[in-house]
Amino acid sequence: MLKSWDERRDYVVGGNAKQTIDFAVEHWIHCAERAIQQRGRFAVALSGGSTPKAIYERLGKEKLDGAKIWLFWSDERAVAPDHPDSNYRMAMESGLRQLNIPQSQIFRMVAEKEIEKNASDYEEKIRHYLGKHLFDLVMLGVGEDGHTASLFPHSPALEETERLVVANPISEKKSWRMTLTFTCIHQSFHSVVYAIGSSKSMIVPKILDAAILSQFPASRIGTPKQKALWILDEDAAKNLK
Ligand code: 6PG
Repeated sequence: MLKSWDERRDYVVGGNAKQTIDFAVEHWIHCAERAIQQRGRFAVALSGGSTPKAIYERLGKEKLDGAKIWLFWSDERAVAPDHPDSNYRMAMESGLRQLNIPQSQIFRMVAEKEIEKNASDYEEKIRHYLGKHLFDLVMLGVGEDGHTASLFPHSPALEETERLVVANPISEKKSWRMTLTFTCIHQSFHSVVYAIGSSKSMIVPKILDAAILSQFPASRIGTPKQKALWILDEDAAKNLK
């Protein structure tokens, strides 16, 4: 059952991991059907991570109208599309290739070369194809350090207030990432943060209890106008007060 955490965030504890994935899939499909009904298409920003992967695996078995779905990404590693670490490869191979979405509606983040130029190009594509409403759904995971998308603690992208997409140097990973910015996420219709498993049980309450400008980037997700939804399983939620 959906509960309000504060004026910026709602949350749902879906039960065990399987029940929570079931809920997340139903929520994704509901967002898609409503967007297609209201705007003729569903534009979604896909996340990396284990929970989104489980969602893609289930979506690949669903009967969805791929012709009305437009795929973008919330972030991408600086690797080629066939690299094991590629979020693009993970999403397509986990199940989304089965939806037969036209290639012209699949927008991979080209992060393996000229990442700063390609981040600008990606932003142009978002502005050109999506207009001012941006995404119908932004999918986000959360790391144990409180990062979300590739908005990592202390990284320059956290300070970006104008651009929608940036190249972000991640010092702790000694690599670059391409990522949507908070500005982009907060201009979209819905953002969902997925957290499943006991490995998230310490960081989830810290993030939700923290001030908006805390050391945890995921604390900033959600606004009173565009409330974020946190989808948690009972393990990830077990320390919530
Ligand atoms: C990435 C993701 C990242 C991920 C979190 C959580 O590129 O890795 O965008 O933000 O969602 O690290 O990942 P897990 O769900 O696998 O813990």
